Amino acid sequence: MKDMPCGHGRHLLDITDLTPAELDQVMAMAETGVGGLGRVLEGSGAALVFEKPSARTRSSTEMAVHHLGGHPVYIQGSEIGMDVRESVEDAARTLACYHAVICARVMDHRTLIRMASALDEASSAVPVVNLLSDVAHPCQAIADLLTVREAFGSAADRTLAFVGDANNVWRSLAWAGVYQGMALRIASPPGYGPPREDLEALERAGGDVTPLVDPEEAVAGADVIYTDVWTSMGQEAEAEARREAFRGYCVDEALVSKASPSAIVLHCLPAHRGEEISTAVIEGPASRVWRQAANRMPAALGVLAWLLEPSRASHGASGQRHESVPPGGGDVG
Ligand code: CP
Ligand code: NVA
Repeated sequence: MKDMPCGHGRHLLDITDLTPAELDQVMAMAETGVGGLGRVLEGSGAALVFEKPSARTRSSTEMAVHHLGGHPVYIQGSEIGMDVRESVEDAARTLACYHAVICARVMDHRTLIRMASALDEASSAVPVVNLLSDVAHPCQAIADLLTVREAFGSAADRTLAFVGDANNVWRSLAWAGVYQGMALRIASPPGYGPPREDLEALERAGGDVTPLVDPEEAVAGADVIYTDVWTSMGQEAEAEARREAFRGYCVDEALVSKASPSAIVLHCLPAHRGEEISTAVIEGPASRVWRQAANRMPAALGVLAWLLEPSRASHGASGQRHESVPPGGGDVG
């Protein structure tokens, strides 16, 4: 029987699972694109577990698996029933029997940590990839930085202004931006900005991150304006309060006019036109949102090819492991 390709115990739960140099390697592989990366998933499965809906992430990841020679298996959260039908740990170990990689979009980030921990405890080399949690969206951030590099040649020394909620998308983007040498500003209403411990961690990593309240102050002279929905999936009960709190945080033409004349506008999508972004801006000349959406596929290619690259074993010893993986993990052994 042919051996399954496998990773080497590295997971991608957030950008911080990579070093800055490793993020650069992933991005370089993404920029190599289809055809240049070999078929590291030849003959293998890739489990794609979704506890929340998706347009971009599912399709881009499925296509990346296909281009790498693998077979994607889409699994709805309700079908697998994590912690309902069986434990997260048993589900992860079962999927690892058939798949070379487990990619998951989850309600609670701790589910990913438990999956990764269960596989580590079982000495499995199958990587877990975060396809969005309440905490982080690393594959999106890689596509975002690819889009910035496409526009400016390099992300280094460019200023990115994020206007809105300090959510999962912001958190991964902030780390990827800092790793790539960007200066970051975020404008959020009081109570919706980044927690102090996140800012301190970014600062310890050498980041230049400025939390603000005023969107105009944030975008003044910026090279990149980024926004995302005010209410993320799972926060629907807060939608009305958030709509009220974020009034005045719409990225419209007046706000974009305060940025650099060559500024680009990004949005991870799905967008709510007239709330966090105006139709004129998302359809306007500064918008790169469709390039950004397209870049989700090369980003997924880069992530999967990097994690499953046969030589990853030699990187593994010096590479970072997910610090927040608890030692126990649950029902494994
Ligand atoms: N940007 C993003 O992750 O889109 P989906 O939720 O449609 O996958
Ligand atoms: N912050 C959004 C991103 C969607 C891609 C959410 O979590 O719903």
